Amino acid sequence: MKALICDSYGPPENLKLVDLPDPVPGAGEALVAINYAALNFFDLLIIENKYQFKPALPFSPASEFSGRVLALGPGAQGFAPGDRVLGALGFGAAREKIVCPVDRLVKIPDGLSDEKAAGLTTTYGTSLHALKQRADMKPGETLVVLGASGGVGLAAVELGARLGLRVIACASSDEKLKFIRTFGAAETINYATSDFRAELKRLTDGRGADIVYDPVGGPLTELALRSLAWKGRLLVIGFASGEIPKPPLNLTLLKGCDIRGVFWGEFIRREPEAHRQNMVELLDYAASGAISAHVHAIHPLEAYLEAFGAISRREALGKVVFKMN
Ligand SMILES: NC(=O)c1ccc[n+]([C@@H]2O[C@H](COP(=O)([O-])OP(=O)(O)OC[C@H]3O[C@@H](n4cnc5c(N)ncnc54)[C@H](OP(=O)(O)O)[C@@H]3O)[C@@H](O)[C@H]2O)c1
Repeated sequence: MKALICDSYGPPENLKLVDLPDPVPGAGEALVAINYAALNFFDLLIIENKYQFKPALPFSPASEFSGRVLALGPGAQGFAPGDRVLGALGFGAAREKIVCPVDRLVKIPDGLSDEKAAGLTTTYGTSLHALKQRADMKPGETLVVLGASGGVGLAAVELGARLGLRVIACASSDEKLKFIRTFGAAETINYATSDFRAELKRLTDGRGADIVYDPVGGPLTELALRSLAWKGRLLVIGFASGEIPKPPLNLTLLKGCDIRGVFWGEFIRREPEAHRQNMVELLDYAASGAISAHVHAIHPLEAYLEAFGAISRREALGKVVFKMN
């Protein structure tokens, strides 16, 4: 089978396309023929050895996939050859076939395409967990989303609107903002060209935002924290800007506000039942068209430089996926 592998840490140029023998499913595992594999920003960090999670070399990048079950290992139950499935394993999916514990697979409902199913789990899973379990959101509150046209950002915009929040979507270009408006944002702010704090103040009638969803970090974080309402919540999602901010803690005192960390991978491990319920909700939304699971671009595995480049150049609007065949 064809596989994209990382055998030395570094930029996407270090990756290699190789031929590998088909894997064999062990006890409790399924062999899955991958149809689509999806990239996330953290794939860039993993291949450069800059991520909190460090797979042993060599490994394939791409956490998420959709495809069909080909065979089952001893004792693997709940699935049959031919089932359409999706999974998110952290890494390993940029290849034609994968073995996966069956308890990490989810059946894809009718009405949801393989293309959209591949990249749904991490972005929407993170954003639903952030809004439901971490933000304690209430319908009618104002949600500010930074990096709103990216993978997790776009999911937060859509889910926020779906759950009854008033969404202010923020991004670095007018083209991105025009795109995001069609996903339920009530207002938009271009933080590259406008006075970000002044705009947030204007759009919240001077009250400030109830919730800020921050996957970007850098200088924007402190500006957003300064723009929170009384008892507001800043959700720390990630640092796509490359800078972990260190805002002054007196701001939390003055606003009676919270800075809340969101770690979706650890949530799955520690609270599997809550995660399972979130996935049921998300797949219902996706199958009924209530969320878009928007795909920005589909590439063959050979075009991996282009695929990774769209993410590193801040061009991706939603998900970048590989189509295997
Ligand atoms: N906490 C969790 O459990 C969890 C789960 C999944 C992902 N994450 C984290 O969330 C962050 C975003 O992930 P993603 O997959 O949504 O990424 P993405 O699709 O690449 O989107 C990131 C967004 O960040 C903005 N950005 C600002 N500076 C950037 C830079 N120097 N390079 C790239 N983008 C930059 C871009 O929007 P503008 O150009 O509009 O600024 C871009 O749209 C990552 O740090 C990831 O590790 C965290």
